Amino acid sequence: MERKLRDRGSWSSKFGFIMAAAGSAIGLGNIWRFPYLTGQNGGAAFVLVYLLCVFLIGFPVMLNEFAVGRYTRKNPVGALKALNPTGYWKWVGGLGVLTGFVILSYYSVVAGWTVGYLMKILTGALSQWTTTEVVANSFGHFIASPLNSVGYLALFILLTMAVVVGGVKGGIERWCKILMPILLGLLILLVVRSVTLPGSGKGLLFYLKPDFSVISGKTVLMALGQAFFSLSLGMGAMMTYGSYISKEDNLVTSGFWVCLGDTLIAVLAGLALFPAVFAFGLQPEAGPKLIFIVLPAVFSKIPAGTGVGALFFLLLAIAALTSTVSLLEVVTAYLVDDKGWPRHKAVFSVGFLSILFGSLSALSQGAVKGLGALPLFNKPFLDLMDMIFGNYSLSFGAFRLVVFVGWKWGIKKAVEELKMGNPEFPYFGVWAFLIRFVCPLAVAFVLMGMAFGWI
Ligand code: PHE
Repeated sequence: MERKLRDRGSWSSKFGFIMAAAGSAIGLGNIWRFPYLTGQNGGAAFVLVYLLCVFLIGFPVMLNEFAVGRYTRKNPVGALKALNPTGYWKWVGGLGVLTGFVILSYYSVVAGWTVGYLMKILTGALSQWTTTEVVANSFGHFIASPLNSVGYLALFILLTMAVVVGGVKGGIERWCKILMPILLGLLILLVVRSVTLPGSGKGLLFYLKPDFSVISGKTVLMALGQAFFSLSLGMGAMMTYGSYISKEDNLVTSGFWVCLGDTLIAVLAGLALFPAVFAFGLQPEAGPKLIFIVLPAVFSKIPAGTGVGALFFLLLAIAALTSTVSLLEVVTAYLVDDKGWPRHKAVFSVGFLSILFGSLSALSQGAVKGLGALPLFNKPFLDLMDMIFGNYSLSFGAFRLVVFVGWKWGIKKAVEELKMGNPEFPYFGVWAFLIRFVCPLAVAFVLMGMAFGWI
C-alpha cells in the first residue's frame, strides 16, 4: 500500500499544487470562452453574475472535489467506488472520466488553432492582415483546411502526452510553475495596449457598466455553466489533482487562490479584448471566433506587433496545454489506479484515441459538410460536443457530487478532511450549508433550464 501511494505521485509543495490547479483552471475557458460568452450575453451584467457564481457556487464545489480527492487519494471512479463500494455512485466518476476524454478531444482542436496562428504570425502573415475582413477570411480558410486542423490537433495532443508521461511532479507541476506567471505578465501588457487604443471607451463601458435589464434566466445559466468549465469542475479534474496533495496542506486557501487567479485572468482577458473590439468597430457577439479575428487585427496595428502577437498566441497555447494536461491526467489516473496500467501505456492509448475522436471536431469547422451541420442539432460537431460535455455534463457532474457528499457519504467527513491543514477556519458551517442546500438547488435550476430549453 505504502509503495502504491508513492507510485501515484504527489505535488512537491503547496505552491506547486496551486500552480498546477490554476494551470488546469486557466485556459481557453478564460481567454477564449469567457470573453465571447460575455459578448453574447450582454457584457458587464454577465460579468457580475459570473463573479457571484464563481464565489458562491464554484469555490465551495472546488473544495468539495479537493476533499473527496485527498480523502480517497484516487481518481474519480476509484474515489467514488471507495466511498460507496456497493452503490451506483461510481458511475458518477465514470461519467467524469468520459467527459474528460471528450473535452480533451475538442478543446485540443481550438488549442491547435492557437499554435497554427503562432506559426502564421512567425512566418509573416501579420503584414497581410490589414483589415478585420481579411483576418476573418483567412481564419475561415485556416480552420476549414483538413490538413491544418487535424495536423495541429495531433500536434497539440502529442505535446500534452509528453507532459503527462513525465508524471505529476516532474511533468505537470514543473511546467505549470514556469508558465503561469509568464501568462499573467503578458496579459497585463495586452490590456495596457488595448485600453489605450483610440475609441476604446465604448468597449470599457460595455464591459464594466452593467445594464441589469439584459439579465435573464439564460444569463444565469450560461454564467454558472461557464464557472464550472473555467474552474475545471464537475468531471473530477480537481478531485484527481486533490488526490496528490499532502495532508498538511490547507485546501481552503489553496482553492481560494485558484478561484481568484482564474477569475483575474478571465477578467483581464475581457479587458484586453472588448476595448479593441469596439475600437475596431466589431461586433462583441462574434462568438467563438472572437479572439482569432480581433486580436490579430490589433497586433497588425501596433509597434512590434509580430513579437507581441507571437508571444500572445504562444502563451494562449501554453495556458491551453496546462489544461489539456489535467484532462488527460484524469483518464490516465483512472487507468493507472483502477486498471493497473503503466502510466506510459495509459497516456499513449488515450492520447491516440483522442486524436482520432478529436478529428471529427477538427473536420467539423468547414472541411466536411456533414459534420458542420449535424442533422437534428443543426450545429457543427465541435459545438455540439462543447454544449453536451463542456456545459451540461459538467453541471450534472457537479450536482451529483454535491448531493453525494452532502447527503450520502457525509458532510461531517468532508469537513474533517478540509480541517486537516486548516483547523482554525471558522466558516465550515457555511460551507456545509452551501454544499447541502445552495449548490444542489442552484445546479438543479441550471439543469432544469437545460431540460426546458432555456439554454
Ligand atoms: N478550465 C479549463 C479552461 O478554462 C478547461 C477545463 C475544463 C479543464 C474541465 C479541465 C476540466 O480552459
